[in-house]
Amino acid sequence: MKKRIYRILAVLTAACLLLAASGAGAAKAENELWWKNTIAYEIYVRSFRDTNGDGIGDLKGITQSLDYLKELGAGALWLTPCYASPQEDNGYDIANFYEIDPVYGTMADMDELIREAGERGIRIVMDLVFNHTSDANPWFVEARAGRNNEKSDWYIWRDPGEDGGAPTNWRSIFGGSAWEYDPIRGQYYLHTFLKQQPDLNWENPEVRAELYKMINWWLDRGLGGFRIDAIINIKKFLPFRDFPADREDGLCSIRRMLEKAQGVYLFLDEMARETFRPHDAFSVGEVFDEKEEDLPFIIGENGCFSTMFDFSEKHIGADPRGWYASALPTPEEYKAAVFAAQRRCAGVGFFSNIIENHDEPRGVSHYLPAGERSDAAKKMLGGLNFMLRGLPFLYQGQEIGMENTVFDSIGDVDDISTLDEYRVALDAGLTEEQALAAVAPFSRDNARTPFQWSAEANAGFTAGTPWMKVNPNYPRVNLADQRGRPDSVYEFYRSLIALRKSPDYAETVVYGETEPYLPEEKDLMAYFRRGDRTLLVAGNFRSEERTMPLPGEIGALLINNLPELSAADGAVRMAPWQFLVLELA
Ligand code: GLC
Ligand code: CA
Repeated sequence: MKKRIYRILAVLTAACLLLAASGAGAAKAENELWWKNTIAYEIYVRSFRDTNGDGIGDLKGITQSLDYLKELGAGALWLTPCYASPQEDNGYDIANFYEIDPVYGTMADMDELIREAGERGIRIVMDLVFNHTSDANPWFVEARAGRNNEKSDWYIWRDPGEDGGAPTNWRSIFGGSAWEYDPIRGQYYLHTFLKQQPDLNWENPEVRAELYKMINWWLDRGLGGFRIDAIINIKKFLPFRDFPADREDGLCSIRRMLEKAQGVYLFLDEMARETFRPHDAFSVGEVFDEKEEDLPFIIGENGCFSTMFDFSEKHIGADPRGWYASALPTPEEYKAAVFAAQRRCAGVGFFSNIIENHDEPRGVSHYLPAGERSDAAKKMLGGLNFMLRGLPFLYQGQEIGMENTVFDSIGDVDDISTLDEYRVALDAGLTEEQALAAVAPFSRDNARTPFQWSAEANAGFTAGTPWMKVNPNYPRVNLADQRGRPDSVYEFYRSLIALRKSPDYAETVVYGETEPYLPEEKDLMAYFRRGDRTLLVAGNFRSEERTMPLPGEIGALLINNLPELSAADGAVRMAPWQFLVLELA
């Protein structure tokens, strides 16, 4: 019987990869676009690092963390909106695109951040929110002042319906009617999100020209690119009309109208021509529910964006009645959604792969079975996502395995969508306690708690009082504890990043095709990456040992989330939550 222990090999390989990654690589991949060979990292500015003790993260906090982010290996940082804003939706309600909100710093801080990041080979990517503005934006203030001024057609206005009420029965994403009455104009304006977030009228060429001007202004300042918010919402289905109600409130989700709209990519292509392409800027779209035939227009060779997020896993278990009726994904559902997404983008372009972001619960709490929070399981989930074809997009805290937080009462909740879903749950007859327990696993606040730098007070995030309660698990889960500890989640991510950047493997890891392996094997998620080498990536989604037959001889063990690997008789014995990247001979 052939039985080998790969422990030493794994350690050696990891060491070689780290060395290789720090040298100047000669991989073929080098000639391709810069962002494909790096990894991207999302920063929720409010919760990353506070430097002036007001309890809110700021731009200086990011600048002071650049050496850390470079050590991690991030080549692009997406910052959530830090423009001037009343903060009704934590900055996704922009009052002035040309100003930094004083809570986050100044324009000089932003220039410094762009420059300091650039010196470290890191590009800054800002959030482009232009489906809507804040109702405090001077554009809207002017628009609502009358029906005949320069900006009166910059937003979407309609006369009251026949009964004098809202023009249609659409429900906004954050609950309630999507229409708000304005007494001065005697009309309603449309808001897909909060009523403080009126939708811009993209059909108006002046609006588009003004937005392109703003984008170019930022790109000329040295910005690396943009993450583009909620773009699927900018094109509306005309003429406006009611849709069948989907809840007892008699309203229908505005999504039903949006998903019928055609031609959004004509707008986006125009935008790319006017802004991103001449600047050679990076762009990543927040695109939901795209049609497969539209993918080439979005991320193809001449697509309007460099890449877009794959959100297919996010929808698993969603129930139209609300979060209270929704289920968490099972490993089999997760695997199926991921493989389907990999198939869709094959030969077309690059998805950006995530397990979480500032709008979602923590991936390790969402995709791993209830209660399974071991480091091994966290590494497995992270590794399975990271090794997919596409751009790995880490969210702050993911690299140290941050988990969902705990809510002692609804008073702990900041997120407007959680508050809305809580009300929906109460309306459906749940008690307060049941409603809180039902919405907690889906809350956006889970990802928005302060970054856990250390075991010091407030997890080292602030010297003041944090704007949002720190996750109480910070003494156990924090960066200071993990940095330099070889078996930590953090060092595991670093080894994945080193593999992606290593000259020998970059071609395969970045560009190789994904091919599912044994997809029907329950609780096993495995796939090949086929490029100039063949890798087998596998994770055991089970708290029990299992065997996995091998498709061939193992050439090298590249990544292992556990100290050992035993292989015998053409199979590997996988311990609970074991994750492997093997090179086939
Ligand atoms: C996007 C953002 C989210 C925000 C919404 C409205 O989905 O990611 O945080 O609430 O747009 O702007
Ligand atoms: Ca601050």
